[in-house]
Amino acid sequence: MKKSLGPKAFGFPVPVFVVGSYMEDYKANIMAAAAAGVCCLSPPCIYISLREATATYHNIIRNNAFTVNIPSEEYISETDYVGIASGKKFDKFLETDLNPVKSDLVNAPYVNEFPLVMECKLKETVNLGSHTMFIGEVIDLKVDNDFLTSIIVKSDLELSKVDIEKIKPFSYDLSLREYYKLGDKAGKGFSAGLKLLNKNNK
Ligand SMILES: Cc1cc2nc3c(=O)[nH]c(=O)nc-3n(C[C@H](O)[C@H](O)[C@H](O)COP(=O)(O)O)c2cc1C
Repeated sequence: MKKSLGPKAFGFPVPVFVVGSYMEDYKANIMAAAAAGVCCLSPPCIYISLREATATYHNIIRNNAFTVNIPSEEYISETDYVGIASGKKFDKFLETDLNPVKSDLVNAPYVNEFPLVMECKLKETVNLGSHTMFIGEVIDLKVDNDFLTSIIVKSDLELSKVDIEKIKPFSYDLSLREYYKLGDKAGKGFSAGLKLLNKNNK
């Protein structure tokens, strides 16, 4: 029997993104965002949902741009800190010993030490209530070489792919407010269901 917990949004695993933006005085700022994810593949778009109380909310509207950085497990403390402290009061790059890099493509900084960044142009905002959804078009995805893996597509075609097992990202439980490491591979997409598809097609 299921117990009703009322209308609550729950999903798991949800990513922990670190969003980079410039403050009004051009100080580089970062905040943690877990109400976030991928929302379109072509054009490639991601969303982050922000409260108006955050400095990042106003920074993105002013600059029409932001970066989404994905931290590794070793940066859980820094990520949590940038989810507690506001850029209105603190220089979060200075306090965490992280280093901002100015994006060449959009008017926003990214985190040098984190393995992966998406540089985004603001495409659309949707006010949903407590949070406003910021949809960003990904202008570029940059990944440090150490976190890539090569896939041989054809004998003459080799592609670089993001390797989650090397990045070791972590996720967030919005219900109990806890960070989780990600587990092992559990199957292959567009492949694990083929047996059932073939059975039903007979
Ligand atoms: C793990 C985690 C996830 C968070 N996710 C969000 C989120 O999705 N949206 C939001 O508005 N605030 C979120 N927060 C809170 C903001 O990160 C926090 O208010 C931060 O201080 C805002 O920084 P800023 O004022 O420098 O922009 C989260 C905090 C943590 C610790």
